[in-house]
Amino acid sequence: MRARIIGTGSAHPRMHVTNTELAEFLDTSDEWISTRTGICSRYISTGETNTQLCVEAAKKALESAQMEAEELELIIVATVSPDNYFPNTGCQVQGLLGAKRAAAFEINAACSGFLFALNMAQAYIQAGVYSNALVIGAEILSKMMDWKDRSTCVLFGDGAGAAVVRAEERGMLCFAQHSDGAKGSVLSCRNRMISNHYVNQEYQAAGEPADHTHMEGQEVFRFAVRRVPEVIGELLAQAQMDKDEVDWYVLHQANERILQAVSRRLGIPMEKFPMNLMEYGNTSAASVPILLDEANRRGLLQRGQKVILSGFGAGLTWAGALLEW
Ligand code: COA
Repeated sequence: MRARIIGTGSAHPRMHVTNTELAEFLDTSDEWISTRTGICSRYISTGETNTQLCVEAAKKALESAQMEAEELELIIVATVSPDNYFPNTGCQVQGLLGAKRAAAFEINAACSGFLFALNMAQAYIQAGVYSNALVIGAEILSKMMDWKDRSTCVLFGDGAGAAVVRAEERGMLCFAQHSDGAKGSVLSCRNRMISNHYVNQEYQAAGEPADHTHMEGQEVFRFAVRRVPEVIGELLAQAQMDKDEVDWYVLHQANERILQAVSRRLGIPMEKFPMNLMEYGNTSAASVPILLDEANRRGLLQRGQKVILSGFGAGLTWAGALLEW
């Protein structure tokens, strides 16, 4: 059996911030941000939590799947920005939805997180362990930014996307996923320093301040432009399909120039790459499922069409899946 997406949903915070509004307190401009990235605005939480966005997206996905929360057997939330160390976001969502039967947990594969989670759901379903799952990508990245660092904070946004999958004859055709931990330092955000009764003050004072996103932009750009075409090629080879047989390429929404470079490298027209980064910025694990939900609700995706999903980001990680919609 294969995991088939039978419902999607998404959610974002109320506050919508344009590039021009960022320029009111940062040395930046709409012109700089939009020409280099394609991003024009993003949603920023002024109180909405990761869990709240997950639950809103999940309820919409369940409604569109015409499934009750009690039927769910598995909940996986992909995030780098959970509300708590524990309990994990999956359990929070499970409790709030009343999905009593579901096992629930959280994974972190940064901007590839939704793909790793979806692929995991496929593996469980293929193995016959579960017959359905709720897969969510959700982020409150705004709390992990240095809001004085114009080179990072303008790029990211907050949001959540969810998909309900069910075991069916048709659905995910194949997947691929990769990691390169040796290059992890090009995109990182440290956790708390070790701090306890036995750690001396000098050690603590020597540590860098925690919890801001650090990025070497051009390295990340090069990584994405190389690895995304590779993983797409891998999926096509596995499925023995030609790139032209794929109807839609739903890729992580980091930067319009990355999408253009991928389209050029593969010789696939940009019309096959739906985009919403103009409105959302980069929402990490949430970007693919939010875009998928929009494409689904707009009627872009038709049953039987072939769709490639792909994510790439910190870790470094990159992944893809080829689906029959
Ligand atoms: N507004 C105005 N100027 C800015 C700026 C901003 N928001 N951010 C950086 N700059 C400045 C820099 O300080 C630098 O100035 P300098 O030349 O005086 O030192 C100049 O713009 C060029 O910076 P640079 O980092 O070389 O720009 P770039 O052309 O590489 O573009 C990115 C930067 C981040 C847009 C680009 O590297 C990129 O998109 N990388 C991929 C990032 C990504 O997608 N990450 C997430 C992956 S999941």
